[in-house]
Amino acid sequence: MELHGALAGLPVLSDSNVLVGSSTYDDAGVYRLSADMALVQTVDFFTPIVDDPGAFGRIAMANALSDVYAMGGRPINALNILCYPIGELGMETLHDILHGAAEKLKEAGVVLLGGHSVQDKELKFGAAITGLVHPDRIWTNAGAKPGDVLILTKRIGTGVLCNALKAGKLAKDLEREVIDSMSTLNAAAAKACEGATIHACTDVTGFGLAGHAGQMAEASGVTIRIRPSALPLFPGAEGYMAEHRTRGNRTNRAYLAGRCQEDPAVPQTLHDLCFDPQTSGGLLLVVLAAEADALLSRLRSGPCPAAARIGEVVARAGAIVLELVP
Ligand code: CO
Ligand code: CO
Ligand code: CO
Repeated sequence: MELHGALAGLPVLSDSNVLVGSSTYDDAGVYRLSADMALVQTVDFFTPIVDDPGAFGRIAMANALSDVYAMGGRPINALNILCYPIGELGMETLHDILHGAAEKLKEAGVVLLGGHSVQDKELKFGAAITGLVHPDRIWTNAGAKPGDVLILTKRIGTGVLCNALKAGKLAKDLEREVIDSMSTLNAAAAKACEGATIHACTDVTGFGLAGHAGQMAEASGVTIRIRPSALPLFPGAEGYMAEHRTRGNRTNRAYLAGRCQEDPAVPQTLHDLCFDPQTSGGLLLVVLAAEADALLSRLRSGPCPAAARIGEVVARAGAIVLELVP
């Protein structure tokens, strides 16, 4: 949700240890503890996007952890957040959700400290995650420079495909592929960046690729140029777009109104997929151009076979922060 109006004019305390706050649309806040250590803190929870409770738990936790990886951090502990209709869904379903989440924490090497639950009519689940990062090695949204190359590590299309799934229209093999992708930690992708010069990074979630790229461009004072034809898409994503486009697609487009230039030579469906809201999407990495090929081949031959070079950073041209070009 865009909260600008509600956040304006609040009393604020300033603290020189806040290294990343809310002004740069970053994935997480970063707070310096000492010259060589800072806390990375984030919270994320949402309503189910798949029916299988175990899969929902895995996806929700992979999504929550991702914001720490997207800051270049290492997650260390978690607190669960749960809103649950116990009378309606029962203990077994809850166990399966928490089990799925715990599997992901174990895989990430992250300990669960506890959590909080309330009775609610609608199920919501997620977590607050704390991580650590060296203050000199934070991947903020604000560091992208003209000439840098954009690499995306996961496929695009989870919004439209989960919508098709809800309508009972998604092919089984595609359902498995989408759930696998959303359950995959961004840990290995972040690890593959070790030694590379990452100027900025974010993970692609609710605002869609376009929205998150736009926020990054805004924070960095640059323009981001994306080639939609270069996007790694889930097979069939374009085909599902006509009937299963999400409501978020429209709001994400409105969010960038007047700041995004869509070239008419790009097929409309490809434009639309740039605004598709993602859940537990990939890392959008902004890397020094000279290192892009090496990083891309490391990602593709390793943890992220779908990783692709999708565009570059250019100097800001007026109000336009995002260009979608052929
Ligand atoms: Co994020
Ligand atoms: Co988030
Ligand atoms: Co970041």
